[in-house]
Amino acid sequence: MNISIVILAAGFGTRMKSNTPKVLHKISGYPMVFHIIEEAQKLSDDIHVVLYHQHELIREKIEQNFSGLHFSIQDHENYPGTGGALRGLEFKNEKVLVLCGDMPLVKAEDLSEFLKCDEDVVMSVFKAQNPHGYGRAVLDENLHVKKIVEQKDTNDEEKKIDTVNAGVYLFGTKFLQENLKILKNDNAQNEYYLTDLIEIANEKNLHVKAIYVPEETFMGVNSKLNLSTAEEIMQRNIKQKLMADGVIMRLPESIYIDKKTVFKGECVLENAVSIEGECLIENSHIKTSSVIESSEIINSSVGPLARIRPQSVIKNTHIGNFVEVKKSTLNGVKAGHLSYLGDSEIDEGTNVGCGTITCNYDGVKKHKTIIGKNVFIGSDTQFVAPVKIEDEVIIAAGTCVTKDVKKGSLAINRSPLKILEGFYKKHFMKAR
Ligand code: UD1
Ligand code: MG
Repeated sequence: MNISIVILAAGFGTRMKSNTPKVLHKISGYPMVFHIIEEAQKLSDDIHVVLYHQHELIREKIEQNFSGLHFSIQDHENYPGTGGALRGLEFKNEKVLVLCGDMPLVKAEDLSEFLKCDEDVVMSVFKAQNPHGYGRAVLDENLHVKKIVEQKDTNDEEKKIDTVNAGVYLFGTKFLQENLKILKNDNAQNEYYLTDLIEIANEKNLHVKAIYVPEETFMGVNSKLNLSTAEEIMQRNIKQKLMADGVIMRLPESIYIDKKTVFKGECVLENAVSIEGECLIENSHIKTSSVIESSEIINSSVGPLARIRPQSVIKNTHIGNFVEVKKSTLNGVKAGHLSYLGDSEIDEGTNVGCGTITCNYDGVKKHKTIIGKNVFIGSDTQFVAPVKIEDEVIIAAGTCVTKDVKKGSLAINRSPLKILEGFYKKHFMKAR
């Protein structure tokens, strides 16, 4: 832990065309900047996050998830640009690794090569499939990087260069602090570019080391198109790792899985499944087009076309099609078709008939439905919560349960069925 780290996140993110700050846009369920902070914390205990645009909101979100970071606000009016962002920072260590808030795919292990370097200026480059938007690395005859030219400052020749600046740097702290002061803003954007330090270092005959890194990992996210590309790459990485660890996926490219989901045992995910938030999926089969949100699914099968909403615990249970579960604990239950089970607890051996609804909301508050063991719930039952059903109860089909039901009872509130023979003909004769 003998390096300091700066994460730059003070830009306006204009190309994102969004009211949400760029670094808070989510990738695999997690704001972009969180990914890089999490990795930075594996490498350093002196991490500086530079903010400006919407700094209060970004800081609040970061602090809900991380602690021990140093925040600073860039003097954007006087020193705009990535070079301006670093002005005035004090570092604990002799080396500073500079990362950007818009590079969500970089992992701590991808940075290990930087940490081994002794040079005062280490930068990163890759050959971009589409270099537009990136700073171009102008190389000399020995393939050393002479300088970086930003997109808006390029001439026609420089526009053709496809070796670009990846945006990760390692600087000697002393070099950085001495030379940030001499950056100029005589460029197309009137900004102080951190990238100009490369040319300055060359002018001072310092060795500038360039590390070639993979574009797939170091790409910057500047637009919503970049956001979707980064999401595709991260999802592919997440799913490949999970499959290597034993999860079966049918048509994995159609499946979405949040970064924070944990799988245990043997799990099967069919196509078009979406797993969002922090979930635990253990020895379970999630069938096609089901959505699981911040819940635990253990020894169960869910779907097709089911939705398990946050704070649900589904254990030893079968959930079928068009069943919505919210904030409920189901253990050893069968709910095969078309139900809404919200704010409920349902115990072992209970069968939930088709069309069962927990009426959990009275327009003001949410109430609980508690259902015991071995209850047989007939189709089209409504539970008007709060309500408690003890063990071994039968609820007749079509019942609206408005009172607690004692163990061993039948609950039925049907009115007697009348059959009027010959009514059809009489009715339509009259109408015509
Ligand atoms: C930057 C580099 C470019 C490189 C690319 C790699 C500069 C001048 N350009 O361009 O050479 O190819 O990254 O992805 O460095 N930021 C601040 N303060 C500011 C401006 C930006 O903190 O005043 C932050 C942003 O929030 C962002 C990062 O710095 O996280 C990079 O800024 P961005 O505007 O995305 O720069 P690029 O045009 O991508
Ligand atoms: Mg960028």
